[in-house]
Amino acid sequence: AATLKESYDGLFRIGVALNQRQFEERDQRALKIVAAEFNSISPENALKWESVHPRPAEYRFDAADRYVAFGEKQGMQVIGHALVWHNQTPSWVFQDERGAPLTRDALLARMREHIHTVVGRYKGRIAGWDVVNEALDEDGTLRKSPWQRIIGDDYIEQAFAFAREADPSAELYYNDYSIEREAKRAGAVRLMQRLLARGVKITAIGLQGHDHLRYPSGAQQEATIRAFASLGLQVNITELDIDPLPRIADEVTAEVTLSAAATDALNPYRSGLPDAKQRELAEKYGELFAIFAKYRGTIGRVTFWGVTDGDSWLNDWPVRGRTSYPLLFDRAGARKPAYDEVLAVAKRL
Ligand code: G3I
Repeated sequence: AATLKESYDGLFRIGVALNQRQFEERDQRALKIVAAEFNSISPENALKWESVHPRPAEYRFDAADRYVAFGEKQGMQVIGHALVWHNQTPSWVFQDERGAPLTRDALLARMREHIHTVVGRYKGRIAGWDVVNEALDEDGTLRKSPWQRIIGDDYIEQAFAFAREADPSAELYYNDYSIEREAKRAGAVRLMQRLLARGVKITAIGLQGHDHLRYPSGAQQEATIRAFASLGLQVNITELDIDPLPRIADEVTAEVTLSAAATDALNPYRSGLPDAKQRELAEKYGELFAIFAKYRGTIGRVTFWGVTDGDSWLNDWPVRGRTSYPLLFDRAGARKPAYDEVLAVAKRL
């Protein structure tokens, strides 16, 4: 029977994020799925600053080396994620040895050294990098991260320049979430226009695609792809999952220990996703893939953020102990109705 990568061969690559157990080949169930269904891989955590550069003078590449070697052995496109981000970046990065904030020049030097060391190590082996991740706030203005506060707005173009110096052959991406919402999309368009006008090499924008049954609408998804296609950018869907659980009010965070009642409201499907919800999930995946296929010339890759439902970060976010069902394979590694719908979209083309 056809698989995901076979069904979309000639349209765009189908990718998947791998955790350390998987790229170290200790998760046989997932590995069978990965080899059969996908032709691109992303590292869920292994190439983040905290993982490869835990202390000022210490780089640790053993896990990342195994990630890249696994991808090459499997003949996959190997993606790098992420060089400059405000999350999973140790606080020492922004401080001098006395703990005082670094100067602009000192942080630029540190960013340059990290990017040259990490990107240089995998030159010609990692096909493309998420150079800057999540630099925008929901209103489309630049997030006031330590990168932005210490270096200034130009930290973004500096990061892209360092990555281009370190590996001129690598594709370079800007990656973010909720770009389908108007205000944030407008901010991303402005940011891409500014960077492109300054001659920055940007191959694609990555729409993370952490979606749910009501978001994004088909219209929002289409308008977003068209907005960046009109700038001549490739569009990648880089972290796709569709959370079928009820959205959790923003004020509820992982730190809150939920009352039993609240837990039930927030985690209603502990013993399995009802058939009606499975069908809704399949329909939403089908709607989005029909749009991706329509814009096949612009879409370079659609990457899922995890192999099976049990691997998903959405079982721990925004509160720990959720039981979610956001991907195409269930906890036993079986194909869900959503998988069949994604294949059916390709057959109908
Ligand atoms: O490695 C430590 C381990 O030593 C420790 O025992 C354990 C205790 O909780 O934590 C482990 O670190 C966890 C890390 O994943 C590695 O497994 C962190 O707690 C956990 O917060 C972290 O979650 C990751 C999350 O990014 C953090 O921001 C998720 O796996 C990962 O899927 C998620 O991915 C991000 C993308 O990189 C960027 N876009 C958003 C997406 C979802 O947040």
